[in-house]
Amino acid sequence: MIANWKMHKTSREAVDFIARIAPAAAAARCLVIIAPAFPSLAAVAAAVQGSAETSAHGLAVAGQNLHWEAEGAFTGEVSGPMLADAGCGYVIIGHSERRQYFGETDETVHRKVRAALAAKLTPIVCVGETQAQRDENETEIVLRYQFERAFWGMEEADFRSCVLAYEPVWAIGTGKVATPDIAEGTQRFLRHCARNVFGSEASESLTILYGGSVTPANVRGLLEQPDVDGALVGSASLDPTSFAAMIRAC
Ligand code: 13P
Repeated sequence: MIANWKMHKTSREAVDFIARIAPAAAAARCLVIIAPAFPSLAAVAAAVQGSAETSAHGLAVAGQNLHWEAEGAFTGEVSGPMLADAGCGYVIIGHSERRQYFGETDETVHRKVRAALAAKLTPIVCVGETQAQRDENETEIVLRYQFERAFWGMEEADFRSCVLAYEPVWAIGTGKVATPDIAEGTQRFLRHCARNVFGSEASESLTILYGGSVTPANVRGLLEQPDVDGALVGSASLDPTSFAAMIRAC
């Protein structure tokens, strides 16, 4: 269960949030990951460390983005080793907001996946179709392409260290959640893509998350689907009561 806070919360708000969801996270039989904005990473990592000791599954921290180089003259960017140093074990890559507003392409997604693995971070790779693409029956073509480009030329062992997130663009921030049937059908297709490239064992063990207008009211129906292994939550993850309810559902 991942909280993608996007551009929300100061360090202080973040630490207060962790304290409020810690009991639910400690009791959960799932991994709970918080993805704060860069300036709050260290504070969240410190807060999470205490909570993780009380739970075998516990809390972990993710960056929302990274640069594909480990260091260099890239003003305003943050690298994989820096995220790892700040306490991250995970990093979100290729979110549709990055693709839409910041020029992220399938090529940069691919380079970032490799950079994350090199920094021993687990990449959470986002793929998803737009409403227009779904209307034109292009969903599978688009997703297969995004999947194959992201993991192009990768060894199976590296692929096994990756997490996939299906985030239909039309469902993000719209209140228009995918039905459990749509999420399941599409995620089954993504697992099929993984099988084609990396074989059945790697595809069966792949974690595929769903993201897009997930709330406490709809999370259960989504998580009941066999190919929906977790949720990547935006706006409903900002409120600790709502996020704790989703952790409990998980
Ligand atoms: P919402 O939950 O606000 O639709 O955002 C989903 C998302 O983008 C998670 O990464």
